[in-house]
Amino acid sequence: MITLRKITLENRRAIFNLEVSEDQRRFVASNLSSVASCYILATNGGHPFPFAIYADEQPVGFVMLAYGITGYEEPSIADDNYCIMRLMIDKQYQNRGYGREAMKKILEFIRTFPAGPAHYCWIPYKPDNVAAKKLYENFGFRDNGEIFNNESITVLRL
Ligand SMILES: CC(C)(COP(=O)(O)OP(=O)(O)OC[C@H]1O[C@@H](n2cnc3c(N)ncnc32)[C@H](O)[C@@H]1OP(=O)(O)O)[C@@H](O)C(=O)NCCC(=O)NCCS
Repeated sequence: MITLRKITLENRRAIFNLEVSEDQRRFVASNLSSVASCYILATNGGHPFPFAIYADEQPVGFVMLAYGITGYEEPSIADDNYCIMRLMIDKQYQNRGYGREAMKKILEFIRTFPAGPAHYCWIPYKPDNVAAKKLYENFGFRDNGEIFNNESITVLRL
């Protein structure tokens, strides 16, 4: 079973060691860098939610959620909405349905509105990231036509 868990002193190294394949590196930052971004967001008025993705007791991936990113240059939808960033499943655990199961848990979590109310969830992704695009479309996300920092913005009404 897939679960989202807090990054802890115990699991942090295992999470930092998870990685995507070489040809996927341009799609997502390293988990170490993402956790650093969470710290900066948290200490500058943002609401980041970094999670380890577990398959039973095995760490297999990482995701970072953020609410209402402020103080950064962001697309207009960022205001008071939830963003899914940096979703990754380690290369050796891909294509087993873990990404899809993780997305279900992520959306369940977002729908508890942990940092405040919102109408939308949005995801920035590289337009040629076919796997990610398909995954998000299957959950009802649709591109809003905006390109921001060379990334497409795909949006779901919550
Ligand atoms: C995108 C990613 C998280 C998907 O995780 P995964 O566990 O391999 O995906 P799943 O096995 O759960 O597959 C879920 C869906 O993703 C899509 N998908 C996954 N791999 C795919 C591929 N190679 N080509 C096309 N679609 C693909 C499919 O829609 C699939 O559903 P289906 O099997 O019913 O068609 C994973 O490929 C990854 O970590 N990629 C590198 C990092 C990245 O690009 N993150 C997204 C940043 S925006």
